[in-house]
Amino acid sequence: MQQVTIVPLSKKDVISARRLLCRIIEEMYSGNQKAIQNYRNQYNLERMDELAAKKDGYCFIAKINEEIMGIGLGYIFGNVGFLHWLGVDKKYRSAGVGSMIVDNIHKYFRKNKCHKSGVYTDLKNKKLLGFYIRKGYKVRARLPDHWFHLNIAYLVKNF
Ligand SMILES: CC(C)(COP(=O)(O)OP(=O)(O)OC[C@H]1O[C@@H](n2cnc3c(N)ncnc32)[C@H](O)[C@@H]1OP(=O)(O)O)[C@@H](O)C(=O)NCCC(=O)NCCS
Repeated sequence: MQQVTIVPLSKKDVISARRLLCRIIEEMYSGNQKAIQNYRNQYNLERMDELAAKKDGYCFIAKINEEIMGIGLGYIFGNVGFLHWLGVDKKYRSAGVGSMIVDNIHKYFRKNKCHKSGVYTDLKNKKLLGFYIRKGYKVRARLPDHWFHLNIAYLVKNF
């Protein structure tokens, strides 16, 4: 693969990054219009502009040439880094891009004095659980019938 770079979201990439994020949201919550609409509204253009301005959170994108391949975003609260959304364009999956984004986010957390990182995932998505466990996370809580009635796992990685 050509050179992949992980960079903070900038204003010029807001529209394309949001487009990718919305595709990921639709894929993950396929058939659940309420969840899709909620997340799309949460990450509207205004919020993405804030993230590009590093206001109340972070957003990193993976790029190849000028194309956006992946996105990872969230925030830090109380010295705990939180990874809210992570997604890689289908055509670029299984090539290590997701892992690169997560490594970059961990670096950012450490630099900002986080002592741990947390992420919520769908408890029944074993591939995704495996991905985070390989990145050093452990399942710390199981939350049955949680957001949008999904069974959620809360995973934590200590630094
Ligand atoms: C999870 C995700 C970001 C991983 O990105 P990636 O660039 O493929 O990650 P890597 O190449 O570093 O690692 C690939 C591994 O992730 C795991 N994985 C996790 N979710 C997966 C998915 N939906 N499809 C395929 N592999 C997935 C597999 O173990 C895979 O290994 P394999 O290629 O040997 O099967 C990507 O699959 C994705 O965007 N999925 C849909 C959105 C999502 O589930 N986001 C997480 C929300 S918390």
